Amino acid sequence: MSGVTDRPFRQLIRDLAGGRIGISVTEFISVDAAQRFTPKSFRQLRTFAGECPLCIQIFGAKPESMAAGAAQMVGNGADFVEINGGCPVPKVIGRGGGSSLLKDLPRLKSMLQQVRKAIEVPLFLKVRVGWDESSINILETLRIAEGEGVELFTIHGRTRVQGYKGLADWDLINQAASVAKIPVIGNGDIRSAHEAKARLDQYPALSGVGIGRALMHNPFVLGQVADLWEGKPVLEPGPQQQYQMLLRYAELLAEDGFSPQGVLGRLKQMMARMSRYLEPDASVFRLELLHTQELEPYLVRLQHFYQEEYEQGGYQFMPGRILNLNGKHSTEMEEGRQFK
Ligand SMILES: Cc1cc2nc3c(=O)[nH]c(=O)nc-3n(C[C@H](O)[C@H](O)[C@H](O)COP(=O)(O)O)c2cc1C
Repeated sequence: MSGVTDRPFRQLIRDLAGGRIGISVTEFISVDAAQRFTPKSFRQLRTFAGECPLCIQIFGAKPESMAAGAAQMVGNGADFVEINGGCPVPKVIGRGGGSSLLKDLPRLKSMLQQVRKAIEVPLFLKVRVGWDESSINILETLRIAEGEGVELFTIHGRTRVQGYKGLADWDLINQAASVAKIPVIGNGDIRSAHEAKARLDQYPALSGVGIGRALMHNPFVLGQVADLWEGKPVLEPGPQQQYQMLLRYAELLAEDGFSPQGVLGRLKQMMARMSRYLEPDASVFRLELLHTQELEPYLVRLQHFYQEEYEQGGYQFMPGRILNLNGKHSTEMEEGRQFK
């Protein structure tokens, strides 16, 4: 996830999961930039020791630049290359990348063909179900991907026009997975390890599920998935584990070259989300954190909260219970089929 899953975040997640991570995927990288930069100079290409297997995700408009970019990514250590056909952001769409590929399947086909020829590692594709409700084309996209040698196909069950509104259409994801000849990963709105398992139980045609925003709310979630997968009790992080996690994140960010203000910004982002899942309501604490201007007092405040107030206040961290992933209160939206 762009702006989220950079090197320190990926390392944090892997540490919290005790190394039980399948494939690490970078933030998406513009092929225009990719051809000019190396891991030494380009932040998004940097990895940590032992980060393997690694998938580098790229985006762009022109099949030939994507092919050159993909080859460059393999040179930069990618074990897999993924093409982004799902990003809805106007800056990416306007330049012909991301989910705009879904409006031009011949270009997508040619892109896959040229990228496939340019690399020897497996090629992945990540897409949405279509551009808008009246042009759902996930089955056609899947057929093209299969024909062009894509080896892993991830579907975010929303359209581009939906952005992050409404819900992902898991019936549609399942429809594609049921006819696919290649592994399909379903993605959209999974809030917890138990929901990940529920999706896999409900849709046996899927080869896996992808978890995005839940990581921003609960960085422990992939470790919890691994616990569940291994039949172990699922870790419910207590105050000490939450506090240590935040300190570790601060340390990883500083090691990565973030300034104290940069570290503070990232901690604020994380706490703005995590604190919503504290029960009883912690909005006073959340506001205090948002208004703290320096890193040191911020860390002192966190320490006091987790070491003194948490138990006294009877707090519990309950991600996945009350809110949807856009940070709003649960809605009355219905799961399942979203499009006619
Ligand atoms: C801030 C942000 C950045 C994202 N960046 C990427 C990206 O670079 N590549 C990608 O494939 N998806 C990206 N996504 C989409 C997520 O990977 C995922 O497909 C989407 O959020 C739906 O899954 P979720 O409900 O589990 O979050 C991003 C999402 C967010 C919220």
